Amino acid sequence: MCEGEDTTIRVAVIIASTRTGRFGPTVAEWFAGRARRRPGLTVDLIDLAAAALPATLPDEDTAAPPQVAALAPRLAAADAFAIVTPEYNQSFPAPLKTAIDWFCAEWRAKPVAIIGYGRDSGGALAAAQLRQVFAELDAVTIRDGLLLPRYWELFAADGSWPRRSADCTMAVTTTLDRLTWWARALRDARTARPY
Ligand SMILES: Cc1cc2nc3c(=O)[nH]c(=O)nc-3n(C[C@H](O)[C@H](O)[C@H](O)COP(=O)(O)O)c2cc1C
Repeated sequence: MCEGEDTTIRVAVIIASTRTGRFGPTVAEWFAGRARRRPGLTVDLIDLAAAALPATLPDEDTAAPPQVAALAPRLAAADAFAIVTPEYNQSFPAPLKTAIDWFCAEWRAKPVAIIGYGRDSGGALAAAQLRQVFAELDAVTIRDGLLLPRYWELFAADGSWPRRSADCTMAVTTTLDRLTWWARALRDARTARPY
């Protein structure tokens, strides 16, 4: 390690669901809380509902709208992304696709973990489609992540989510281990050889 080198890994946790009454923030805050417990990780929790990105993309030479300009530095600062997404009609929500499409270099050569939730599939189909989309942007979706089928069954008696015995409380450790590994490896690679 070089003197003065920044070893902190910055993870942007993105809440993809924007609908009224959504469950997404519960999943995202749990994941972000687990990430924050780790030394050497900082977390930026990005809520696409709050970001309120315009749904219509402009022509290429048009200046970025203020909502896009506000989000750009937060994405650019991230070394890694964790996308917390529900599954809607076998895909991910439209506001997430809009958010992905507004940006380009901000995603490039960075790792992406997918945390899916839903009914029986647990978000598996949404996750598969996200892998295809992020490949186009030269982002690296990592193998490890979480799929949470029937997430409503994971409430504990005291109302907390997820209950301590749930499989996902173990899987989150592996996901954070691997996401951190990829974040360091790709940040070093981008520094040595700009993509
Ligand atoms: C329009 C719509 C379509 C849905 N389609 C699916 C689906 O294809 N697969 C699935 O597992 N769950 C599906 N669900 C259930 C959602 O995964 C579940 O409602 C979840 O809570 C949505 O996340 P949110 O509450 O954060 O918005 C759908 C829900 C909505 C509102």
